[in-house]
Amino acid sequence: MKLVVYFYLSMIVLGVQAWPTVKRSFELYPGAAMPYNEHRIADCMHVASEPGDYIFKKSVSAPTAPLAALNLRGDASLLEMAAVAGDELETAAAAAAVAAEGGADTVCGLYVIGEPDTIVEITMKHYDVNCESGGLMAFVDGWELNGEYFPGLKDHHRVLEDRVYEFCNNNKQWPRYSNKKFFRSSQNAALLQYRIPTRGSFVANVRFHKITQPCNILVQDSAAVYKMSNFGHARNCTLSALFPAAVSLGSIRIGSKSVRAQDKVNYDCHLFEDRLEIGGSAGLDTTGMEMASAVCGATNELGPEQAVFCGVTSVRLLSTGRYQNQATVIIRKADEHDFDIATLMCAL
Ligand SMILES: *[C@@H]1O[C@H](CO)[C@@H](O)[C@H](O)[C@H]1NC(C)=O
Repeated sequence: MKLVVYFYLSMIVLGVQAWPTVKRSFELYPGAAMPYNEHRIADCMHVASEPGDYIFKKSVSAPTAPLAALNLRGDASLLEMAAVAGDELETAAAAAAVAAEGGADTVCGLYVIGEPDTIVEITMKHYDVNCESGGLMAFVDGWELNGEYFPGLKDHHRVLEDRVYEFCNNNKQWPRYSNKKFFRSSQNAALLQYRIPTRGSFVANVRFHKITQPCNILVQDSAAVYKMSNFGHARNCTLSALFPAAVSLGSIRIGSKSVRAQDKVNYDCHLFEDRLEIGGSAGLDTTGMEMASAVCGATNELGPEQAVFCGVTSVRLLSTGRYQNQATVIIRKADEHDFDIATLMCAL
């Protein structure tokens, strides 16, 4: 029932929007979304793009752990396993557990990514993460990898301290605070980090909400078309893909009237304040990204494809707020066949 109402509402919302879809994927959707989904978090870096409950549980000793750990090695024969003494088995299991979960101090994360025109909502239905034993959780408004953030620190309207919310269970505190917590991100990417050294568990419910004026977008598919716009605002928006990518521009309208009046799109607009930058960086932070081209002007024709060979490929729309800027960005994963259209190779 709820689902029907939701779809009906989103149909109305989509109907009145100027751009019915921000992105059109080349890939087929893997079936319609289920009304209720339960997911177990097994990997330290778990990427989630479906709504539902995400469940994590770590207990001190699981009786089946040694065998499972040994099975992971693949080459251990049954005979070898039988020959392993009890002590060794335990050591092996502990080592495997450390390898799988990355040791006591390891920070793991539920990396949530939604459609480009959505924001992420995470509700902590339950969490048992003890502060005293070094347990900690954090909601991040964006993604964090190796100390770098998406959206970049300069591209977000909130400062970093406001983008990261840490919490854990303080069992000494009385009365205890409500165990329920509720977070919303500013873009289609959000992260739930956790460090659980001994034992603990949590259940995080993930939902997505449509927004009408997306700015920063993390690319989810390996080939898709995106619309970027400043909606008349003074703001810089970044579209980032976590892979080397071939980028081309469909229709664009960027800059002043005189810039748009030129017969050719200018791919060398570094000196203009309103521009579209195409480039790349080794990590998530686009602040120091290397530039392949800076584009301004207007056209409805499909532009040339260029490949950016960097860990992260980004397209940034910089807007002073004086003009209505918009661009259609076509992005796909680049491979070795795209070397001849490369405009940027990041140092490895
Ligand atoms: C957009 O980026 C440019 C160049 O990095 C910067 O000068 C400008 O202040 C930024 N604008 C906004 C609204 O953040």
